[in-house]
Amino acid sequence: MSGATCDEGNIILKISNLDYYYGSFRALKSVCMDIVKNTIVALIGPSGCGKSTLLKTFDRMSDLVAGSRVEGEILYKGRNIFDPATDITLLRKQIGMVFQHPNPFALSLADNIKFGPRVHGERNAEKLDWLVESSLRAVGLWDHLKDRLDKKATELQADEQQRLCIARLIAVEPEVLLMDEPCSTLDPIATLNIEELMRELKKKYTIVTVTHNMQQAARVSDYSGFMLMGELIEYSKTSSIFSNPRDKRTDDYISGHYG
Ligand SMILES: Nc1ncnc2c1ncn2[C@@H]1O[C@H](COP(=O)(O)OP(=O)(O)OP(=O)(O)O)[C@@H](O)[C@H]1O
Ligand SMILES: [Mg+2]
Repeated sequence: MSGATCDEGNIILKISNLDYYYGSFRALKSVCMDIVKNTIVALIGPSGCGKSTLLKTFDRMSDLVAGSRVEGEILYKGRNIFDPATDITLLRKQIGMVFQHPNPFALSLADNIKFGPRVHGERNAEKLDWLVESSLRAVGLWDHLKDRLDKKATELQADEQQRLCIARLIAVEPEVLLMDEPCSTLDPIATLNIEELMRELKKKYTIVTVTHNMQQAARVSDYSGFMLMGELIEYSKTSSIFSNPRDKRTDDYISGHYG
């Protein structure tokens, strides 16, 4: 199923005929999808359809599963990420992941932010302090927390922890942010706040998010991809997928008939 968009010059990730196997189980089936820079893409579909699996192929976290195998191609800015010469550490700096449950380290706010840059070799204290400030500013936490940078990150409220996890990614200066159900453990107000943050962040980053929440996909994303049993059934502008789905299975899902 082709997921071509009409914005060829601006494609940051180009997924072609992607198959992924957990042992002999084919969890992704010939997925094709172009992801346009500075947009938000929502992956939707019932539980077990392969949303997280697809997301994890984008930074090759999918490699970590014993007995797994991938076929096909993902071009990140024109280069195949499955090429043996790919520097995985660099790839995961460029394409970072935020998880469903906020997972800050049991360190201070500042040390959470400095962690990634330090891993990547940054030793300059001024640069590290600047990264703390700019990353916390980017997620709207700076004004509120600038006098408490020694506070333990695990003591923050859940949505602040999720913001901090996003700030931690931003500190290593990525281009793509992957978010696997980033709001599913948050209350409705915190969810709207994170959605607003996502809209702000897309000016600078490209975001691929997984959500079970159809309203959220409709509110926040520019493109939506509907998956079913490992296939990308339909991928297009969110406005058209929600108002005029081409495939009956998409229509059934978004109108709540299954999942
Ligand atoms: N480590 C694994 N080993 C074997 N099979 C797996 C593994 N992880 C996922 N699967 C299977 O692959 C399929 C896709 O799983 P995946 O987690 O990608 O779905 P999902 O769409 O993210 O579901 P959910 O909405 O519940 O998070 C499912 O059938 C799942 O059981
Ligand atoms: Mg999942």
